[in-house]
Amino acid sequence: MDKKDKIEEIFSKTIDISPHSQVVIKVINLLRNEYVSIDEIDECLSRDKGFTARFLKIANSPYYGMRKKIKTVKDALILIGLDTAKALILATSTRYLYKQFGSFEQKLWEHSLGVGICSSLLSVTTGFVTPELGLACGILHDIGKIFIYNAKSEIYPKIYEEILNSEKSSVELEDKILGCNHTEVGAFVAEKWNYSDEIKNAIQYHHTYPYPNPEERLYRDICNIIRVSNQICWELGIGFRRNIPSSIDSEDINLDENSLNNLKKLFLNQFKEQKNFLFE
Ligand SMILES: [Fe+2]
Ligand SMILES: [Fe+2]
Repeated sequence: MDKKDKIEEIFSKTIDISPHSQVVIKVINLLRNEYVSIDEIDECLSRDKGFTARFLKIANSPYYGMRKKIKTVKDALILIGLDTAKALILATSTRYLYKQFGSFEQKLWEHSLGVGICSSLLSVTTGFVTPELGLACGILHDIGKIFIYNAKSEIYPKIYEEILNSEKSSVELEDKILGCNHTEVGAFVAEKWNYSDEIKNAIQYHHTYPYPNPEERLYRDICNIIRVSNQICWELGIGFRRNIPSSIDSEDINLDENSLNNLKKLFLNQFKEQKNFLFE
C-alpha cells in the first residue's frame, strides 16, 4: 500500500466511527465561511446536546473571564466574540472525533488545548498573529494524531511511549512504524475539510525546521509559535511529559530567557486554573 492509500485508510476510520463526526464536519464547514452568522452557528450546534454542553462549559471557563454565566450558544458567540468562539468550537469538536475518551485521549486533547492556549499567549507577546489564530492553530496542530489513534488504537499508545523516551522525533518514529506521520495525516484532513491556509500550514509544517518557504513569513511565524508552544508543553508536562531534555527555540520568536520564563509562569497558571474545570 502506498503512502496516500495509508493516509486515506486512516482518515476513513475516524469518519466511520465517530458518532459526532457529521456534526463536527458540518460545524467546521460552517466556520470556514468568514461571513457565517451567529444564528447559523447556533442552529447547527444546537442540534447536538452533548456538543453544546461541552462548548458552554469551556466558554464558561475562568479563562474567558465572563462575569455572568453563559447559558446559550448564542450568548457565548456574542459575549466572547465570534473569533474566539470559533476556536473554542474547534477545541470542542476535536474532542468529539475520538471514538472514546480515556486517559490517553485526554492527554492528547490536553496537549492540543495547552499548545492552543500557549500559542495564543505567544501571539500576543510576539505580535506575529492574532491570539485567535494562534489559539486555533495550536488546538488543531496535532489533529492528525486523533485520526492515527482512532485507526491504530492498539499500537499508537506504544508508539507514544517510545516517542516520550526517544531522542527521535514523533514524525520519525511514526514514519518508521506506520509509514506515514501525523503532519501528513493532518494535512490530508485539513485539505478535505477545507481549513484556512494558516491552519493548514501549521498542521503540515509544525515539525519542519526551518520552515520550507522563507518568503511566506506569516506561515513561518505561526509554525515557530506552534513549535515553541509544543516544546513548552512537553517540558511542563501539559498533556504528555517528554522524558528527555529538550531545548526551547525561543530565539525564533525573539524571546529572551527572562521573557520566556515569565511566559511559562503565566501559561502554567492559566492552564492550571482551567484544567480542573475543563477536564472534570
Ligand atoms: Fe505535532
Ligand atoms: Fe504537538
